[in-house]
Amino acid sequence: QTVNWDMSAAEKGGYQHFMLKEIMEQPKAVTDTVTPRIKNNAVCFEDNGLTDERLRDIENIHIIGCGSALHAGMVGKRVIEAMCRIRCSAEVASEFRYENPIIGKKDMCIVISQSGETADTLAAMRLAKQAGAFTIAIVNVVSSTIAREADGVLYTWAGPEIAVATTKAYSAQLAALYLISVKIARVRGLISIGDERALCAELQRLPECITEALKCQPDMQRIATLYANRPSVFFLGRGLDYAAALEASLKLKEISYIHSEAYAAGELKHGTISLIEDGTLVVALATQPALFEKTVSNIREVVARGASVVLVTTDDFTGDESVCQHIIRLPKCLYEFSASLSIIPMQLFAYYVAVERNCDVDKPRNLAKSVTVE
Ligand code: G6P
Repeated sequence: QTVNWDMSAAEKGGYQHFMLKEIMEQPKAVTDTVTPRIKNNAVCFEDNGLTDERLRDIENIHIIGCGSALHAGMVGKRVIEAMCRIRCSAEVASEFRYENPIIGKKDMCIVISQSGETADTLAAMRLAKQAGAFTIAIVNVVSSTIAREADGVLYTWAGPEIAVATTKAYSAQLAALYLISVKIARVRGLISIGDERALCAELQRLPECITEALKCQPDMQRIATLYANRPSVFFLGRGLDYAAALEASLKLKEISYIHSEAYAAGELKHGTISLIEDGTLVVALATQPALFEKTVSNIREVVARGASVVLVTTDDFTGDESVCQHIIRLPKCLYEFSASLSIIPMQLFAYYVAVERNCDVDKPRNLAKSVTVE
């Protein structure tokens, strides 16, 4: 008797695609990235050059990356500026390197790359290093070029990522940025030892919250089936939700080939709203209680023009639910870490839309996992 082993199914751990497997591995990717860096309820970096002295002296932070790594950086910029009050920019590597950037000797450059080989990111890092900035790389592939050349490395322990569209490496990048942010805030005296302890506890709780957020899987599958044939989808958000919206939109267009745009919710009325018509799908991300009402009023604007709306919000959403067709409620976490949860339903949405459209989910057309051309 012979057993028919399906090797490819075995590699995918029983999932139909690597992407779904990797989406489900996110709690572990975050745990593995965070756990070794928290000791005695404090962020502890060993051997990566992020010493207290250096972090105390930083004048500006430049975050550099491409694609999803850039989007992680856009979340990081908001978290770092909010927690550490240091000027921080998130820049497209291929732009940064050609615009004669202003880099000071006391600046820190955070370079984000899953593969550690992206040509533009590497070139931007070399430029920053030459200008005298301290470069720290957030990289997933051990001993990759960026990891080897950076002054210090903070590895994301997401494990090998096979699907071209990144999910778990992105989530691990966010976790690495939160760790850096908490560390800087503490070193510079912006938070107390007690605050740091509480933030570390929140970080350690994040994988559980992600596991909870993943329970929206059947809902996202159902919603994806309903909207898989829409010609275009718009994502709206403010602040961290805007940064998450950019990543949500990229995920959808990468693997489903549906035209999609992400917009800062308040900017919609300055042009893009003209594209909203009967049946357009709008996904609104709103995880910040202070802005619930503002987002609801943006939703009303698009609904009045015929849009169908999916609202992704938190457990404690208090606004008027009747404005949208579907509502996804995420577990409550610290607002600063909310982009780690809001992206979960969005990854699942992109995944199921692509499956519904019979797209090659793990190997989308025209895209490569690692881009070593400029
Ligand atoms: C490619 C991939 C994206 C990725 C980007 C940056 O375009 O398809 O998923 O975000 O490169 O890659 P990196 O390895 O530098 O994170």
